[in-house]
Amino acid sequence: MLAGIPKETAPRERRVAATPDSVKRLLAMGFEVRVEPDAGTAAGYTDAAYAEAGAATDPEALEAADLVLAVQMPAVGRLKRGSMLVGLLAPFGDDDGPTVLAAAGVEAFAMELMPRITRAQAMDALSSQSNLAGYAAVVRAADLFGRAFPMMVTAAGTIAPARVLILGAGVAGLQAIATARRLGAVVSAMDVRPAAREQVESLGASFIEVDHRQPSLAEDEGGYAREMGEDYRREQADKLAETLARTNIVITTAQIPGRPAPRLLSADMVRAMPPGSVVVDIAVAQGGNCELSRADRIVEEQGVFIVGDSDLPSRVAQDASALYARNLVNFAELLVDKERGTLAPDYDDPIVSATALNPKDASDG
Ligand code: NAI
Repeated sequence: MLAGIPKETAPRERRVAATPDSVKRLLAMGFEVRVEPDAGTAAGYTDAAYAEAGAATDPEALEAADLVLAVQMPAVGRLKRGSMLVGLLAPFGDDDGPTVLAAAGVEAFAMELMPRITRAQAMDALSSQSNLAGYAAVVRAADLFGRAFPMMVTAAGTIAPARVLILGAGVAGLQAIATARRLGAVVSAMDVRPAAREQVESLGASFIEVDHRQPSLAEDEGGYAREMGEDYRREQADKLAETLARTNIVITTAQIPGRPAPRLLSADMVRAMPPGSVVVDIAVAQGGNCELSRADRIVEEQGVFIVGDSDLPSRVAQDASALYARNLVNFAELLVDKERGTLAPDYDDPIVSATALNPKDASDG
């Protein structure tokens, strides 16, 4: 079994799908590992470090591999017929990725489709990457904000603490709350899932409730949010308008799997924020929570900065890669028949079947 690790080619992508540590685990599972030259350089992992861990550097690593472990979708034309691919393959996009992979005879597994069950937690790449995105978003906002986050009492006068609002208190939102709190900000948060209140409050932030009548409708069986109706949206907008006039930083993280991100901040709401405020829209790749955000740009609107970084986990690429590489190795265990030393995914395993983009029987066609 040969595992191949690409040098990622997407713009602004600095992560890598294996680290020297994860290479050692792949070797222990019976893989031979080949890494493309410079695959980890942007994340702080040198070719020499991979070599020391036991991986070969090979520009043809993808062409040779039986299993390609990637961050984003690699060039499908480089993958061997009959090989397998695991990565963040954007399965909700409307491109023809699954069809192209099936036509190329590549069995692919999308990490985004990982079920949110206890057994899958160590493979949950959305969580590991969202957590770092939440952290990176606050650091980004703090950098652009022309003021300090903590309250400071000095001989020259007192500085008021920054007021931070987090929209969407899932994995990214909770880490954003924790990070902003550590920096000394006064933090509040909003989420459609009633269960979020307790988590928000346990981190020392206040929860802004939208008083809707059927809270059970806010959450699906998988624990994800649903799209909310008109009544809810109107009430949420009113609550937001009240809060925004005294908010300095907004981090928006609200997402609905497989759907465009809900629009929570209109241009008018942004204009009502104090000049010098910063909005970081983590949901920008899904269309954004803010009307004004644009992918990979900082838009300025009446003195308010709206940041649309689509590469937040990549801004902490070394940690993001280390966690993602561990997610991948844990998942790869399910693809291997250890006794025979072969790749043999067990489609009866719900984790394997949920993540499979084109199960072999379908792609054999
Ligand atoms: P996500 O990235 O899909 O969405 C982020 C947050 O936005 C969610 O909390 C969602 O409720 C919220 N949201 C959606 N629409 C909104 C709106 N209109 N207004 C305000 N907020 C809105 O969610 P994420 O972070 O991936 O987590 C989803 C759920 O899965 C959470 O309940 C989380 O605790 C749970 N989870 C469970 C895991 C497990 O293994 N058991 C692992 C990771 C997450």
